[in-house]
Amino acid sequence: MNTDWKNLGFGISKTDYNVRCYYRDGKWGELEISSSQEISIHMGATCLHYGQESFEGLKAYRGKDGRVRLFRYDENAKRMARSAKGIMLAEVPQTLFQQAVEKVVQLNERFVPPYGTGASLYIRPLLIGTGPEVGVKPAKEFLFMIFVMPVGPYFKEGFKPVDVMITRDHDRAAPQGTGHLKVGGNYAASMTSVAEAHEKGFATALYLDAREKKYIDEAGPANFFAIKDNTYITPDSHSILPSITNMSLQEIAQNMGLKVEKRPIPVDELESFEETGACGTAAVITPIRKIVDADQQKEVAYGDGKNAGPVTTKLYEALIGIQYGDVEDTYGWITILD
Ligand code: PLP
Ligand code: COI
Repeated sequence: MNTDWKNLGFGISKTDYNVRCYYRDGKWGELEISSSQEISIHMGATCLHYGQESFEGLKAYRGKDGRVRLFRYDENAKRMARSAKGIMLAEVPQTLFQQAVEKVVQLNERFVPPYGTGASLYIRPLLIGTGPEVGVKPAKEFLFMIFVMPVGPYFKEGFKPVDVMITRDHDRAAPQGTGHLKVGGNYAASMTSVAEAHEKGFATALYLDAREKKYIDEAGPANFFAIKDNTYITPDSHSILPSITNMSLQEIAQNMGLKVEKRPIPVDELESFEETGACGTAAVITPIRKIVDADQQKEVAYGDGKNAGPVTTKLYEALIGIQYGDVEDTYGWITILD
């Protein structure tokens, strides 16, 4: 394979196989292997009309020893089950989810990037309503599938500070809506504001709480965190996705001797932070250099403009150290595939 692993972006590419499982007559069938990138579904499928779909995102990492590692994929299984419940999809049992992840990674082992390239294998589980309905109601048939592709950083800067833009004229999720679930509708709702942010030269949009526009919600496809007074601070909000990366960073931070606060973060507090960042599977940790609130004619800058702050750097090194197997996993987060 002639892949330029070090310069991979975050994009679709073809790998050898994907796995699929159909839910029919009230039960899940056998896991199937396919080498086609296409699926065939009824044009009345509920995923197409009413957004009855959920997806996940996780990665496989190759260590120095050449072995392939999965990070906390039981948490992705649980989150997909919550998403399924939330929009009336058939739940994928945790064992089926985990077996499917293991299978698809093993089948595409040659696409797991070499150690030291900064790249990883992105794993995209997808659960869709395939049964046709024209009224707004859940399908009776579902398809669960997983495909994979090698990727580099989501934000092209990698572990370099980016600028983000506060969005005030669009909400990604309603206060009692589906923001806490990983379902397609949230991402459709985010597209205009993310596109506007890109047009204006920002890496992504920073969302505020939809009810009061007073608190920070999240940063495009990633959670938000801030560092101040030896404390890791991250929003507590019903309308953001409970990020597995963020959850892990909270534990790592605590073990590094930081205090951890999960609480509403008023926009007015931004100026008092020493460091800020975005975190997620795709984004890993992306340090934030500047937050611009154009409507309020305000901007806040962090650090020296070129490098991540010291605490963000320590968190990043600890996290990727565990994921790539360079740092001992004292948490039980890693599964080595053999
Ligand atoms: N927030 C949103 C909206 C996301 O799409 C993601 C990505 O999954 C995250 C946060 C980060 O979550 P995780 O760390 O589980 O990947
Ligand atoms: C991830 O971080 O895995 C995500 O799913 C983000 C995605 C919307 C690109």
